[in-house]
Amino acid sequence: MASKKADDDSKPEADSSGTETLRVLVVHGPNLNLLGEREPEVYGRTRLSDIDRELKRLGGDLGIKVTTFQSNSEGDLITRIQEARGKIDALLINPAGYTHTSVAIRDAILALETPAVEVHLSNVYRREPFRHHSTIADIAVARIMGFGAPGYALALRAVRGLVEAARRQRA
Ligand code: DQA
Repeated sequence: MASKKADDDSKPEADSSGTETLRVLVVHGPNLNLLGEREPEVYGRTRLSDIDRELKRLGGDLGIKVTTFQSNSEGDLITRIQEARGKIDALLINPAGYTHTSVAIRDAILALETPAVEVHLSNVYRREPFRHHSTIADIAVARIMGFGAPGYALALRAVRGLVEAARRQRA
């Protein structure tokens, strides 16, 4: 049974400061539910639940409503990305092992028509050659890797600028 975690990404409340509240979906691919236990020398000791909690807390500071989702199943990841169509301002995604193989996740991201940031805990270029290829590298607005768990927070801090740049490009 695939491990899944989802919460709703319905419209956020208005921000009293006048800053537009952004909606960001964070998607974690297979085996990332084992963070903290799995190959800690590569991926660190921080658990996925701690990463998600920190992103939601930081999102509160930044005026970003953060929704998180993890699955070990390619189909469930695609369904969740499809469900976000028209409902989010940006996607942060670590497709994990599917990074290197999944045309279908790439297609789902393209159908989102929303800026996507590719996140990896490890620097994949310091690892086996099969990890050097990403099916989403050329459709991601930005990529961040090699910072471990803090990479997600770095990506979230940068996301408003990326969303605004994408909107300026479309205008
Ligand atoms: C990963 C790198 C992938 O090659 C690997 O399959 C993962 C995690 C990372 O975050 O470093 O599961 O995406």
